[in-house]
Amino acid sequence: MRCLVTGAAGFVGSSLCDALLGQGYEVIGLDCFLDYYPRFIKERNLSAARDFERFTFAEANLLEADLPALLQDAEIVFHLAAQPGVRASWGTTFDRYSDNNVLATQRLLEACRTTRPRRIVFASSSSVYGNPDHLPVKESDHTPPVSPYGVTKLAAEHLCGLYYTNFQVPTVCLRYFTVYGPRQRPDMAFHRFIRSGLLREPIEILGDGNQTRDFTYIDDVVQVTRASADAGTPGNTYNVGGGARWALRDVLSTLERVLNISLEIRRGPAAPGDVRDTFADTSLARRELGFAPSTTVEQGLRNEADWLIGSLDGGPGADPP
Ligand code: NAD
Ligand code: UGA
Repeated sequence: MRCLVTGAAGFVGSSLCDALLGQGYEVIGLDCFLDYYPRFIKERNLSAARDFERFTFAEANLLEADLPALLQDAEIVFHLAAQPGVRASWGTTFDRYSDNNVLATQRLLEACRTTRPRRIVFASSSSVYGNPDHLPVKESDHTPPVSPYGVTKLAAEHLCGLYYTNFQVPTVCLRYFTVYGPRQRPDMAFHRFIRSGLLREPIEILGDGNQTRDFTYIDDVVQVTRASADAGTPGNTYNVGGGARWALRDVLSTLERVLNISLEIRRGPAAPGDVRDTFADTSLARRELGFAPSTTVEQGLRNEADWLIGSLDGGPGADPP
């Protein structure tokens, strides 16, 4: 089976490529190496996939590429390319969000009208829910985002829905809840916390530390993303959350145990656009996609720490020479 993965050099995209290749799929990875974080990290993310003959990489931007040609023969499209990051989405860089999250998605969907893949799976975000009035959130709940990033992910979801209802492009949207684990982006909390801990640098907590997240381990995300290509109902949206709600304060005390050190914690102001709490009702994904997240936050933190320790020693995520 032939798949196209957009955002293939990123955190989730590269992990998905590795899993698909391991299962015998033929994979075309597409990425334009957006400079939100350094290219050498993304190149390293790709290194395992590049060992497979069944992997082809296209360095291309969805905003300009000849998409019908790239999509030819792709049975499944996993659309993970985006400008991520909630807190960076204010101000003059918003065009990066509107271009890469909205326009790029519309171009891809338009191309799919002619190439007709069997499924197109879109990586959406818990940020579409904003600050909900009850938890856990269900897919049918209100979606009033509180960050510009969330607005663009919601717009892209709507485009997926429109291309399904008007042109039967078989889209499935997955709302990922704060993904973590090896290869996590360097702007994200766990990566920053572990790295600072290992380097004995202070950790900055944004706000009072009582905000909560439904953290979701990368392998669980990859597993359900793959499953959604076969079992996902076109036109449907599914929550993908790890199953437990953790306050940042509790994450930090667990991390002290995992790293066996005392962390120096400083408090910074809460960031505009940051939601207070997230927690997913995943019953639909469990029922239809067989989703069964299995990695605890403590184990997942250990795995991410092991990966980062390797990187600080010159391993997988190391700083460039
Ligand atoms: P990432 O930045 O590591 O990966 C995204 C990749 O997409 C990058 O390598 C970037 O270069 C590429 N890209 C962006 N615009 C492109 C374009 N126009 N053409 C080609 N390539 C382009 O981010 P990630 O954390 O792996 O996130 C993957 C997806 O999951 C994104 O859609 C993100 O919005 C979504 N998501 C992530 C999380 C999370 O916690 N990581 C949570 C919810 C949703
Ligand atoms: C993450 C991803 O970055 C988004 O791309 C994604 O769409 C979103 O999850 C989602 O679930 O939809 P976020 O929840 O902000 O966004 O994830 P982190 O960057 O890991 O932040 C988690 C919490 O830690 C936030 O409250 C943040 O303010 C806090 N934080 C982060 C700190 O206290 N200090 C830091 O140095 C970084």
